[in-house]
Amino acid sequence: MFSVFTIFALLTVFDRGSWASSYTFPDNFLFGTATSAYQIEGAWNESGKGESTWDWHTHNHPELVADGSNGDIACDSYHKYEEDIELLKYLGVDFYRFSLSWSRIFPSGHPYNVNYEGVNHYNKILNLLVANNISAMVTLFHWDLPQRLMELGGLTNPRFVTYYTEYARTAFEHFGDRVKYWLTFNEPFQTCVYSYGDKRMAPALQMPGIADYLCGHNLLKAHAAVYHLYNTTYKSKYKGKIAISINAEWLEPKSIGDEAAAERVRQFWYGMYFHPIFSSEGDYPQVVKENVGYRSSLEGYKRSRLPQFTQDEINYIKGTADFMGLNHYSTYVGSDSGNTSLETSYYNDYHANILSTSNSARNDLVEVAPWGFRKVLVWLKNTFNDPEIFVTENGYCDLGDMDDKRRISYYGQYLEALLEAIYIDNVTVFAYTTWSLMDNYEWNLGYTYKYGIYYVNFSDPNRPRIPKSSAHFIKNVYGNRTVVS
Ligand code: NOJ
Repeated sequence: MFSVFTIFALLTVFDRGSWASSYTFPDNFLFGTATSAYQIEGAWNESGKGESTWDWHTHNHPELVADGSNGDIACDSYHKYEEDIELLKYLGVDFYRFSLSWSRIFPSGHPYNVNYEGVNHYNKILNLLVANNISAMVTLFHWDLPQRLMELGGLTNPRFVTYYTEYARTAFEHFGDRVKYWLTFNEPFQTCVYSYGDKRMAPALQMPGIADYLCGHNLLKAHAAVYHLYNTTYKSKYKGKIAISINAEWLEPKSIGDEAAAERVRQFWYGMYFHPIFSSEGDYPQVVKENVGYRSSLEGYKRSRLPQFTQDEINYIKGTADFMGLNHYSTYVGSDSGNTSLETSYYNDYHANILSTSNSARNDLVEVAPWGFRKVLVWLKNTFNDPEIFVTENGYCDLGDMDDKRRISYYGQYLEALLEAIYIDNVTVFAYTTWSLMDNYEWNLGYTYKYGIYYVNFSDPNRPRIPKSSAHFIKNVYGNRTVVS
């Protein structure tokens, strides 16, 4: 494992400083930036909002967060959303991706008990975005579940599909006229494995190899139900689009002999969610079913942890996305662990070792590997029949530099890789989103690591926002439609 110092030293090699690409983004290409409710809103118990899983988790288990902090106030965006929209205007974005807090709209999770103060809050944001000609991309669920629904099992309860569909219906009814892009879920793997399989994320259920698969299964059904609801009832009226954001880091084999292991990990991490929705045959990927799919024999019981879809469900889930939402940050190297014994953890199910890690949730800094971004885009194109890709997140974390040269270098290289994927590899990508608009609550890392292109002073009760060097860089890229510094 690299030390933080080694990674800083490695990153210096990539710090190229100035940028000038020979490519220009296509005329209709869209640029935006993103946040999520729990990470920025604060006002955790104001204006009728109910308790969410993240409120409960951080208040009851501060030891599971690096600095013991919580999102009670966070960036205070609940009160400062007008200022946030000023930042968006400075950046010149085409769209803003943000999420709704489910427990602000349904405080008890009960689908018939609407909190209109919560609805009004999002109405104000949407109206201001419209007034400033910024399209809204709304994530329905970015990890903060009403706590009462968690007490009923959260995403492991099959009834989740109904609760979620009714919540989505309310959102479509109230906000549908002003939302151009809907995302049903953000990062299913992280939603299910980190929250239900281990203790990185609320509710830290720690039932690996059981609850994580159940969660994924219900998540896919809920996604499909909400896609169909929008498609049949709202799409022709509002002309919006609806999809899901799936995280896909690139998994590079350590040596040629490790390609099968690398592909197995890709299929477990993200193929499990892409395949049922985007492949022509639907259902879970073959390699996942082979490893953990249903077996009728007693000795196969331990492998049978992946629930099965019926043929009707496979057909119902297949094709339920108007585009492919992709979150991408970094690249990992993997090798075959050679271990095929029956394990009971999701991580062991794919029988491979992940040798280098580079994701914030694993407490490392981001490893800069723009070639991995290009490879994952090509992999998605080849594996899923050339989907239309919307990059819904890409970004770099550090410890809080204002003159954040490393972040600029990261963005410069990743945007250049994206242009190469578009022009050299003919991948269809039509939008790009920086994560994040501003420093915010980074889940189990609290406020220790920063992703923002705007700095937020969390010691000041007014939570002032100040542009970092990267905010000016991103403004230039978006304004010039090419990578320039
Ligand atoms: C994934 C998540 O969607 C977002 O909430 C998180 O802050 C970033 N990636 C960085 O870890």
